[in-house]
Amino acid sequence: MSSAVEAARTEEARQGGPPLPPLVLAGCGTVGGALLGLIREGRGSDDLVRSILVRDPARERPEPLPDPDGGRVVTRPSELPVEGGRVVVEALGGIRPALGLARRTLAGGGTFITANKSLVAEHGTELEALAAKSGGRLAFEAAVGGGMPVVRLLRDLPDAARVRRIEGILNGTSNYLLDELHAGRSWSEALQSARALGYAEADPSRDVDGRDAADKIRLLAWVAFGVPPAHVRVTRRGILPDPEALVAEARALGGVVRLLARVDPPDGAGICRARVEPCLVPRDSPWADVRGADNRARVSTARAGTLSVSGPGAGGQATALSLLTDLGDEALRRAGGSGGLARPVFPVRTIVAPDPDSSRAEGHPAERWHLSLEGKIPGHPEIEVRPRLERILARADIRLVDVDRDSGRLRTVLETRHAPRVDLVGERLRALALEPRLLRLAER
Ligand SMILES: NC(=O)c1ccc[n+]([C@@H]2O[C@H](COP(=O)([O-])OP(=O)(O)OC[C@H]3O[C@@H](n4cnc5c(N)ncnc54)[C@H](OP(=O)(O)O)[C@@H]3O)[C@@H](O)[C@H]2O)c1
Repeated sequence: MSSAVEAARTEEARQGGPPLPPLVLAGCGTVGGALLGLIREGRGSDDLVRSILVRDPARERPEPLPDPDGGRVVTRPSELPVEGGRVVVEALGGIRPALGLARRTLAGGGTFITANKSLVAEHGTELEALAAKSGGRLAFEAAVGGGMPVVRLLRDLPDAARVRRIEGILNGTSNYLLDELHAGRSWSEALQSARALGYAEADPSRDVDGRDAADKIRLLAWVAFGVPPAHVRVTRRGILPDPEALVAEARALGGVVRLLARVDPPDGAGICRARVEPCLVPRDSPWADVRGADNRARVSTARAGTLSVSGPGAGGQATALSLLTDLGDEALRRAGGSGGLARPVFPVRTIVAPDPDSSRAEGHPAERWHLSLEGKIPGHPEIEVRPRLERILARADIRLVDVDRDSGRLRTVLETRHAPRVDLVGERLRALALEPRLLRLAER
């Protein structure tokens, strides 16, 4: 046996699979740097990484760049050699220049592995069409849930399992912030510590207003139901404008606030609806057990019961491990390997047919929302809110289960099978200058 073949076999045995393919790395910050570290740890060298794109090669970083003067490090996206069927790992973030790199890679029949949820949520269908045409491949395990293998779970479920609902805590930053508030910290203290720990960026608005979780639930709908991410209709309420008040409400009710995202299969009209909203969960529920920046996803199926995964929703190492998993798939594919792992992520499923049982709102049991609001119309202390609320609810055909008047506030429980009606009630109340606090009562 030649020494080259022997070396390859040793490598294969050590990694539990064929050796990783040579790759080009776009971005070497928190995630890209952690991937470089893992590759160095596994191989003892980074010679597999043929070229690296960064903005500032002189910047000090925990994982030093290889050979900064040796030509492997480039600073202009156009200098990154991504054509010709290469494997490109993207850990830049944002749409540009990542989109241009993805197009060039996939048009050339290459493999584009990314941690970038915004890129895939906005341009996934275009990129997948490019890949399908050229024989390239798009993979994004790292884009949802950091180190939590939820894309893989959904991808590997046979259609026959019939996914009925996917629900999850998909944003680690907001989960961490909510946890801190529950522990008695103020919003500014919580933000400060989230930034210090690297859980929140300087501007965390995409995390706290629910856009980040919305991007991720779109991706999960794509993988599970074949619905293009841009076609998923997401109703989104983050934890703003007053997270401290939401936590105080939850505490008064003996529960915990969690920002939950969920999506159902396309309904009878072919519309796939998702929601991102703050929910009230019991203290002893698995959702409340998701602490700090962790994530959890629950997949309810008609035939395979309920499956759950949880794990670190962010962090360089955990996310880099997901990139490594996609790289391992690529290695198997290139080696002509067999088995589920070698199955390409795409082409994605064809859009699942509406499920007659789950496509009607009646397919799910009625749900409850806790609604708390001022007892009087602001600026009009003589006008009671309750009769107006009752009229609004009657018009929306929503049942008022319980009302409690406490220190000037109205605390109510609403029940309906039609979540969008609750959103409408919220809008009508806001039009009266009220600030309703709405918490869906989540299932355990
Ligand atoms: N951090 C996490 O926990 C996490 C978790 C899941 C997914 N993700 C996703 O992973 C991706 C990367 O996140 P990150 O936290 O690693 O970001 P980061 O630490 O800011 O790193 C970004 C890297 O990209 C380089 N870069 C950015 N724009 C560039 C440009 N125009 N030209 C050349 N280089 C450029 C930066 O260069 P310099 O090093 O020179 O600045 C840096 O190396 C994002 O899509 C993010 O959403 C991150």
